[in-house]
Amino acid sequence: MDQPILTLDGISRQFRSTPDFAQRISDMLTGKNSEQVVKAVDAVNLQIKPGEIIGLVGESGCGKSTLARVISGILPPSNGRIVLDGRDVASLSEAERRKASLSVQMVFQDATASLNPRKRVVDIIGEAAVVHDIVRPSELEAYVCDLMARVGLDPASRDFYPHQFSGGQRARIGIARALAVKPRILVCDESTAALDVSIQAQILNLFMQLKRDLDLTYIFVSHDLGMIENFCDRIAVMYLGRIVELADTEALFAGPHHPYTQALLKEIPTLEPRKRAFAAIKGEMPSPLDPPPGCHFHPRCPFAAPICSSERPALRETASGRLSACHFAADFAVAAQ
Ligand SMILES: Nc1ncnc2c1ncn2[C@@H]1O[C@H](COP(=O)(O)OP(=O)(O)OP(=O)(O)O)[C@@H](O)[C@H]1O
Ligand SMILES: [Mg+2]
Repeated sequence: MDQPILTLDGISRQFRSTPDFAQRISDMLTGKNSEQVVKAVDAVNLQIKPGEIIGLVGESGCGKSTLARVISGILPPSNGRIVLDGRDVASLSEAERRKASLSVQMVFQDATASLNPRKRVVDIIGEAAVVHDIVRPSELEAYVCDLMARVGLDPASRDFYPHQFSGGQRARIGIARALAVKPRILVCDESTAALDVSIQAQILNLFMQLKRDLDLTYIFVSHDLGMIENFCDRIAVMYLGRIVELADTEALFAGPHHPYTQALLKEIPTLEPRKRAFAAIKGEMPSPLDPPPGCHFHPRCPFAAPICSSERPALRETASGRLSACHFAADFAVAAQ
């Protein structure tokens, strides 16, 4: 196997919940501390090969965006190592770390909210490239025109402001801005979710074109099953901060090796053509402030046995290249054959 372009080694990210006013008063009176810790990402291991498209799926609140932000360097991990091109990011010098952080760029869901309405598009797209000495100010216009053409925007509109573009065009501006610092990995968090289906398809085509032209690697967060199935090489399924299954897309859809994935993939048809959503799974997702012991999924799992509420199942290989964190993964693997 090629050396992974990116390795996540035991990555965790916690958040402290700030108690509200009533809780603070109650804490003062009782001498307790109700500050709680959310383990948004809990000891995630993942290796990504150069040129791969990895899909990150799971119900709302399972930690996909937090993991995406940690991978992009927007949030530091609470624990664990990020290894980029074989080098631990934490061991790099300040200058090297800055360079490494440019090689992973995030494309946000809501392009409109992430574009400064008072800046011209030429400045929005080119700003980071100038700041990081990727392009000289005198060459900025030509550099941005080139990027705009690459993402399917008319370079003649470089002096326009974001509101003068359509939603799909604003998504392209967001992509051009990410590309301006010459990244090798794009992390796309629901990047097409806010767009009409036909525009979504155009943006996905653009992602594929860019992958071919620029040798990009993608990490894709999405709720859209059809998109994930068509677009991704491998899928990581998350539940309450942990990766519970990792497999090639085709193999995963052919037969999950984890009961959570099985429940998730019982897709529900929707009226929108070509769009399929994840199934609603029986029972509530537990609070991430107080996750169940053992396997986090056991209270909702139809196959739960006593061991599931006491022991955390490790993410183990169930078949070549496939991993599942279930005490009964081997049974699922047999059943899926
Ligand atoms: N800045 C923050 N402060 C406190 N808690 C946070 C913060 N960001 C995320 N969380 C919590 O971390 C958990 C994971 O959130 P995250 O946004 O990563 O989930 P997600 O899988 O992206 O969900 P969605 O599908 O709705 O986008 C949630 O319980 C969330 O409330
Ligand atoms: Mg999210």
